[in-house]
Amino acid sequence: MLTLLFMVACTGTADSGKTDDSSTGGGGDATNGEALFGSCAGCHGADGTGGIDIGGTPSTDLTVSVPAKTDAELEDIIKNGYGYAMPGQYSDAQEIADVIAYLRLTFP
Ligand code: HEC
Repeated sequence: MLTLLFMVACTGTADSGKTDDSSTGGGGDATNGEALFGSCAGCHGADGTGGIDIGGTPSTDLTVSVPAKTDAELEDIIKNGYGYAMPGQYSDAQEIADVIAYLRLTFP
């Protein structure tokens, strides 16, 4: 009984704590973002550390790069891609917000 209550309380905190302070307008769902990150992981690695050769360009280490970017910059990269080696990934505003919520949680 106590354990169940504790888990519910924890889940609520993890969700709402991260989505409310987003400058993209909020509403990012990190849990959905984790699933969406699957498409990033193919190039940046499941742990985000990158270094994978993509057509001659090494993928970026997201553990270093994400904390240095604003939400607006991340949104632009996810939507439009980056350089020659990374194509745009998502165009849906909600999906982009979800990915950013996951990135902020995972690579603070
Ligand atoms: C097809 C492979 C590929 C996929 C898929 C991909 N990336 Fe990338 N990404 C790269 C490469 C390669 C670079 C480095 C490009 C360069 O330096 O010109 C990069 C660069 C970046 C950068 C810029 C880093 C910096 O410091 O400027 C960010 C942020 C990033 N990726 C995030 C993501 C996210 C988030 C996703 C998923 C939504 C994703 N990437 C999907 C290959 C990929």
